[in-house]
Amino acid sequence: MPFFAILSLFPEAIEPYLGASILGSARERGLLRTQVIDFRDFTRDRHRTVDDRPFGGGPGMLLRAEPIAECIEWLEARHGAFRRIALCPSGRVFRQTYAAELAADLVHSPRVLLLAGRYEGFDERVLEAFDFERISLGDFVLAGGELPALCVVEAVARLLPGVLGHEESARQDSFATGSKSPAAENGAGAEPGLAERPASTTESVLDTPHYTRPRTWRGREAPAVLLSGNHGQIERWRTAAALERTRERRPDLLTDPRRSAAAERRRDVQH
Ligand SMILES: C[S@@+](CC[C@H](N)C(=O)[O-])C[C@H]1O[C@@H](n2cnc3c(N)ncnc32)[C@H](O)[C@@H]1O
Repeated sequence: MPFFAILSLFPEAIEPYLGASILGSARERGLLRTQVIDFRDFTRDRHRTVDDRPFGGGPGMLLRAEPIAECIEWLEARHGAFRRIALCPSGRVFRQTYAAELAADLVHSPRVLLLAGRYEGFDERVLEAFDFERISLGDFVLAGGELPALCVVEAVARLLPGVLGHEESARQDSFATGSKSPAAENGAGAEPGLAERPASTTESVLDTPHYTRPRTWRGREAPAVLLSGNHGQIERWRTAAALERTRERRPDLLTDPRRSAAAERRRDVQH
């Protein structure tokens, strides 16, 4: 079973989230295992000191290497080796492709360790000595790695078989890679091969807009095509709307120039 161990100085900030909603249900159903460990428990001094001043001076404190190292050694002595990931603003930016890669890798190595920092971050040597990957949630700085660690667990967990109620939902989400559905591929309209989303494992688009009852809400109509019952037309509309939305809001995702052109032509047809 996939096993996420989170090393943090604030387990009480993490546990409630892991126990709620989709993650809580996945744990209860035996689809996921989690353990949150306070690496302060691996200090040896009277004051349980985890931090110290940086060599060379400068503001703030750094996390000392030794308590983290002893925590990892304790954990791995019990369960075996983990894929080790440190949450760092200077890491590889976490995207859906990274989440998918981690989820796929869990088949071969089901144990992932997530190290949440605090203060000014870690003594570099512990990350080097334990061969850590580094993940950033984006170009901003939080006070700690707890939220990024939870984001990684949730983004990966919802890609695991059985975790979501409806398997198709993860495939239809924004940034999902791989073919959306056979219906989308077959009913792609004027340009089969361009309109199914996405075409390659590196390309992704945003989710299509969604609507639910009532059909008219405060004078706003849901698109008639979605109530037509014609699944081919619905898929074509959704594909075109997703491409158009991506083109408007995130053109950087449309790495394939043919795809941008296809979105443009569809927009012209619609208007
Ligand atoms: C105040 S930050 C340290 C920032 C560090 N001095 C820097 O500029 O890269 C404390 C901790 O929060 C976490 N953190 C903050 N922002 C993050 C981000 N964008 N992605 C991942 N982790 C982040 C990391 O675990 C980090 O060690």
